[in-house]
Amino acid sequence: MERDEFRRFGHELIDWIADYFDRIDDLPVLAAIEPGDLKAQLPAAPPERGEPMERIVSDLDRLIVPALTHWTHPSFFAYFATSTSGPGILGELLTAAFDNKAMLWRTSPASTELEEVTLDWLRQMMGLDTGLIGIIYDTASVSSLHAIAAARERVEQRIREDGMSGRPDLPLLRIYVSEQAHSSIEKAVITLGLGQRALRKIPTDREFRLDARALAAAIEEDKAAGHLPFCVVATVGTTSTSSIDPVPEILPLCEQHALWLHVDAAYAGSAAIVPEFRSILAGCERADSLVTNPHKWLFTPFDLSVLYCRHMDLLKRAFSLVPEYLKTPEQEKVRSGSDYGIQLGRRFRALKLWMVIRYFGHEGLAARIREHCRLADLFASWVEEAADWGLMAPHPLALVCFRACPAGFAETDLDALNEAIMHGVNASGRALLSHTKLNGKLTLRLSIGNIRTTEAHVRAVWSLLNEQLEKAR
Ligand SMILES: Cc1ncc(COP(=O)(O)O)c(C=O)c1O
Repeated sequence: MERDEFRRFGHELIDWIADYFDRIDDLPVLAAIEPGDLKAQLPAAPPERGEPMERIVSDLDRLIVPALTHWTHPSFFAYFATSTSGPGILGELLTAAFDNKAMLWRTSPASTELEEVTLDWLRQMMGLDTGLIGIIYDTASVSSLHAIAAARERVEQRIREDGMSGRPDLPLLRIYVSEQAHSSIEKAVITLGLGQRALRKIPTDREFRLDARALAAAIEEDKAAGHLPFCVVATVGTTSTSSIDPVPEILPLCEQHALWLHVDAAYAGSAAIVPEFRSILAGCERADSLVTNPHKWLFTPFDLSVLYCRHMDLLKRAFSLVPEYLKTPEQEKVRSGSDYGIQLGRRFRALKLWMVIRYFGHEGLAARIREHCRLADLFASWVEEAADWGLMAPHPLALVCFRACPAGFAETDLDALNEAIMHGVNASGRALLSHTKLNGKLTLRLSIGNIRTTEAHVRAVWSLLNEQLEKAR
């Protein structure tokens, strides 16, 4: 691509993105297409000759936008509603331009050093102690996998060298999570060859928080059975309800039994930058590791997950392997990202986070998160006051779990009713909700986390929900 053409389309595409955000309110949040619709419009074979950029760009509106579920729509309230931001998008653009592979310090000093400094800023903003050192991975699933691998390294069973299969000398390694923990922990256990049998799910209390007494009993029982407990994963902000496990009660158990405490704060970690929410990380000052996702609630485009770890030496011991062609004169003095994970090449992700933090400042980021929590409180107050609706769980942050429970409906019909309401809202294209099951009951989730969501959007989805309830009556 010649310089002038690059300039022209670069400017055009930035204008296109700005216009996209101007008109996003009018687009259907959920892609209004059927499976296979997009594929049917695309040629099955690649173009033999290059095509003009005009034609490629015109296909954005014709083909791509209609097939998008608009995560950046201010009425996207599903899953954990997340959004990118202007400085984050510009950061991504630069990352693509530099195209650094940050595997060694010398292959990208900027990425290596910016990552260390930016993650230290984030650590300070979250009120975490200096013993926790940050490293960036793509997702929380991968961050947690690396934390559990480091925890496994600490048991000194020569697993790195000898593996786990065919080893009668190896006891069953146990890792504990609550029944509400994210599926990524189970996937990590599968991937690391520990096997699903290694994962013990501990019951939760009425507010969906891990029951620390049940955890204590489970550890004792496993030890008596000759198993080897090695790790507990506590969740600060569970996926279904954003419940917060009692880390201050879990921590002493981990210390008593020498278990690695990993905290999954993928969603809620960002809220700790708001001084009045900092207490959600109580107890984490002695955790061995903690994951938080700026791509969830810190206005940073996907993907960017941060693992804070107190034992970088163990993480390195689990993963470092340096062939001749990667040796450098400065390797003893600097950090090489590839020593701390599965990947060799690593994207220059720190750049976008650095730009986001600088652009908004700690205060600006905290103000937005605080506002999301206020909007969630407001929505929850409407649910609480309405005779036809009920809250299904506490809402410590910006996620509200609720369902319709109007008089005249049998309890057994409420799941179908709520499902119909959710599908009605989603099919309207004016908002997007998702669901979970709590105590066997289908529950609607309204998650607020988009940088453009205002009170008007939250009022609109409440009206929409009530319209759908009237229709379903
Ligand atoms: C508590 C929790 N942990 C982990 C994850 C996985 O996040 P990622 O998509 O970054 O792997 C999620 C996703 O929603 C989550 O809610």
